[in-house]
Amino acid sequence: MRVAAIQFDPTFGDVRGNLARCLELVSSVEADLCVLPELALSGYLFESRAEAMSLSQEPGDKELDALAGFAGRTGTTIVVGFAERAGESLFNSAVLLAPSGSRAVYRKIHLFSGEKEIFEPGDRPPAVVEVAGVRLGMMVCFDWIFPETARTLALGGADIICHPANLVLAYCQDAMVTRCIENRIFAVTANRVGREDRAGQSLRFTGMSEIVAPNGRILARADAEGEAVLVEEIDVAAARDKAVTPANDVLGDRRPHLYRLDE
Ligand code: ACM
Repeated sequence: MRVAAIQFDPTFGDVRGNLARCLELVSSVEADLCVLPELALSGYLFESRAEAMSLSQEPGDKELDALAGFAGRTGTTIVVGFAERAGESLFNSAVLLAPSGSRAVYRKIHLFSGEKEIFEPGDRPPAVVEVAGVRLGMMVCFDWIFPETARTLALGGADIICHPANLVLAYCQDAMVTRCIENRIFAVTANRVGREDRAGQSLRFTGMSEIVAPNGRILARADAEGEAVLVEEIDVAAARDKAVTPANDVLGDRRPHLYRLDE
């Protein structure tokens, strides 16, 4: 299958413009799966929770229809980050828009820095969604530093981690190589670029979106600056072979009864 990581620079607060740009970028590539960045519709640095609420969507909102329609017409599954409104609650979420029309949501479990003042942490385990025989897992940005997230997805049978991101620290792109090796799984990290100067802060996003294979090979990596569309042909079967040597299986050799030191 063909997978794409889409790196772009959303304009803060311009949901319609950002949606239009997302549609333009996914239309520029032929792929079975396109992953877009975290909070791609709203931008990242909110002044307040009220401001984030005003730029949020519900997963079924009509605002997402153009992207969902593209998924249905072309057979491309799209994963995109957005601020999810759920009644009075607000989550930093990713929605998976499947060609069938179904919409699956993952709510970021591990909030980063000031996100804790804006969002509630995700309230459900990371889900794995099967689309056309391929098992897609989602995590969002800072979830990377908690190996439990990727491991939970691997134990849930995910072949590919779809990873929308707004990375600002220097470590994730290299760390994802380890996440892939230790779980024998593919990862598509779609990071944003550009900077935001708002809410008394200045953040530069680190780009370098990437597609990584179960053996840790970086199949494609974008530059630190500038929008980019990465596409790779991958063989999903590689993620179903968990053997790291003939005698070692990265999931089967686990000894969970010895890991529970914090309980
Ligand atoms: C992050 O989780 N957006 C760094």
